[in-house]
Amino acid sequence: MTATTERAVGSDVRRIDGPDKVRGRAPYAYEHELGAQPAFLAVVQSTVARGRVTAIDASAAEAVPGVVAVLTHQNAPRLGDVAEEIAVLQSDRVQYVGEPVALVVAETSEVARDAAGRVLVDYDAQPADVRLAADRDDLYAPEQLMAGFATDSVIGDVDAALAAAPVSVDVTYETPNQHNNPIEMHATVARWDGDVLRMWDANQGPHNLVPVITEAFGITEDQLHIVSPYVGGAFGSKAYTHAHQLLAGMAAKVTGRTVKIELTRQQMFSLVGHRTPTIQRLRLGAQPDGTLTAISHEVVEHTSQNAEFAEQTATATRLMYAAPARRTTHRLAKLDVPAPTIMRAPGETPGMYALESAMDELAVALGIDPVELRLRNEPERDPERDVPWSTRNLVACLRQGAERFGWAGRDPRPGVREDGRWLVGTGVAAATYPTRRRPSQARIEAVPGKPFVVSIDASDIGTGAWTTLTQIAADALRVPMEQVSLRIGDSRLPKASGAGGSTGITSWGPAIIAAAEQLRDRDVPPGGLTVTGSSGPGDEAETYSSHAFGAHFAEVRVDRDSGEVRVPRMTGVFAVGRVINTTTARSQFLGGMTMGLSMALHEESVLDQGRGHYANHDLAEYHVAANADVAEMDISWVDEVDDEHNPLGAKGIGEIGIVGAAAAIGNAYWHATGRRVRDLPITPDKWF
Ligand code: MOS
Repeated sequence: MTATTERAVGSDVRRIDGPDKVRGRAPYAYEHELGAQPAFLAVVQSTVARGRVTAIDASAAEAVPGVVAVLTHQNAPRLGDVAEEIAVLQSDRVQYVGEPVALVVAETSEVARDAAGRVLVDYDAQPADVRLAADRDDLYAPEQLMAGFATDSVIGDVDAALAAAPVSVDVTYETPNQHNNPIEMHATVARWDGDVLRMWDANQGPHNLVPVITEAFGITEDQLHIVSPYVGGAFGSKAYTHAHQLLAGMAAKVTGRTVKIELTRQQMFSLVGHRTPTIQRLRLGAQPDGTLTAISHEVVEHTSQNAEFAEQTATATRLMYAAPARRTTHRLAKLDVPAPTIMRAPGETPGMYALESAMDELAVALGIDPVELRLRNEPERDPERDVPWSTRNLVACLRQGAERFGWAGRDPRPGVREDGRWLVGTGVAAATYPTRRRPSQARIEAVPGKPFVVSIDASDIGTGAWTTLTQIAADALRVPMEQVSLRIGDSRLPKASGAGGSTGITSWGPAIIAAAEQLRDRDVPPGGLTVTGSSGPGDEAETYSSHAFGAHFAEVRVDRDSGEVRVPRMTGVFAVGRVINTTTARSQFLGGMTMGLSMALHEESVLDQGRGHYANHDLAEYHVAANADVAEMDISWVDEVDDEHNPLGAKGIGEIGIVGAAAAIGNAYWHATGRRVRDLPITPDKWF
């Protein structure tokens, strides 16, 4: 092999999977053609939120020509010990609108859907309770939050500190139900080859699904093969095993056929999770110079009857700013809703919206510039854990952002800038997201004269992992990228963590580097050589507090006649350790900021309070920011290498772009109009 000294890491190389994607040669889950004529699945969903199925009449459906089978709780295979939220067709109980109550298998998808509409289901139904409110008397404290965080945190006497604070704010923000809306719908193709279950599936890491699916079907890891090379977006909704994957395995087993299931966009709103709505009370106390003396962040959010999902909404508040007295709490309402799930920066996204909005309100109360207020409250060490930061360059992000955006000389007065019928304002917010690292393994096969084959069950959900992992492997092997052939997205490849929590590069990259090191200074014999490497968290998480940071600046224009809100420009500056690929990194930040803009102005899943269903369950009514909503996006990052966390010096970039973005827009809206909208999204109707 020709040794190269040219580094691929840090370059702007374009996506290596791009040409195949634009030519339609990159097969997504549902597109896998497997030879055998497949059968198609259609889900029959509950129309009630709570109750029992008392009778199912499938005769009309079974009579439709082309119908192969109809599965219900009465005849479906029994699953092993799976979580209640995915124990699909295992009982007559119904716990949310949209819960699968029957499954039609048919020769075509059209017949399957037609027949699904002919399955008659009777229910013994009870009223739906889907109302989230801070004054419910049945709110409870979960034992712990998602990702293992403590439910509450208390330092000092918060109430006394708030009462004594010369300046304080006490404000409540609400964020709505939101849905992950990947372009590629959740889909699975499944087939049993003897006692081996094969699945071509849209997910965020095949190994994520292995423990659940093997348990569900009582098979060993060797009897399960999940393939997922290309994924068209996910945002968290493809991280875990959901009902449709188990339905596919069941239907394939019962019929002996290759089966295909693809959720419709409407079904997606009840079958793969959502972001919980939140009600967040923020109380901040400060000295007249802006020094924070008290921080209280109390969160109310929902979970479902069939799962305890406790979003870690206030955990970022624990480390963002120091104050002698601090408190965070999380309380849950158990409602008749589908199980929530993770959605891009779960916790940090709604939580930092509230904290960074409250910081803006405090800045106004103090008469201090909101950038300056944050600079004055920059903690030297992690205030909760009392350990040093591995790196924390929030100050650099704020300064660089202010410079790029043109913040200096900003008139702090609200509602005084006009441009024709537009009211104009600007706002700022900070961002943070944890840097983590998960166990992963990689394998490299070296054969003289051939490209190195690098194998790892990593996942590219649109992030650029195909490209960045090839860059990392090339540098680690000291060869050009063309001499690396990457394989990802297959449960038969070395086990790796899923794509989630912004941990892909920090987990997979070091595993590839560890494997490459096994090859260093070794002669490859004519027959070739195979090496493996593994990597995982060391004690860096004990010694340091590692988080990415960022700053968002936004300009907002509000039409005084219609209340329409436009965001002509945003500036985002991030401190994320080493950037592996400047093109795909920019794309991640751009996507995150766009999703934050979408959260600020558009996204809201409306729960029908009477019947308990998501009323606006399609892209016509659940509004996601489109190209026309996004104008100038100025994206940059500060020079930073985090040597304390992992050998790449990288921090992970998939989620921080969304964190804080909605607060910057909300704060700019106030600056434009003089009005605070404290319940997202800021739709035109809230102007009147
Ligand atoms: Mo992301 S919500 O960790 O898939």
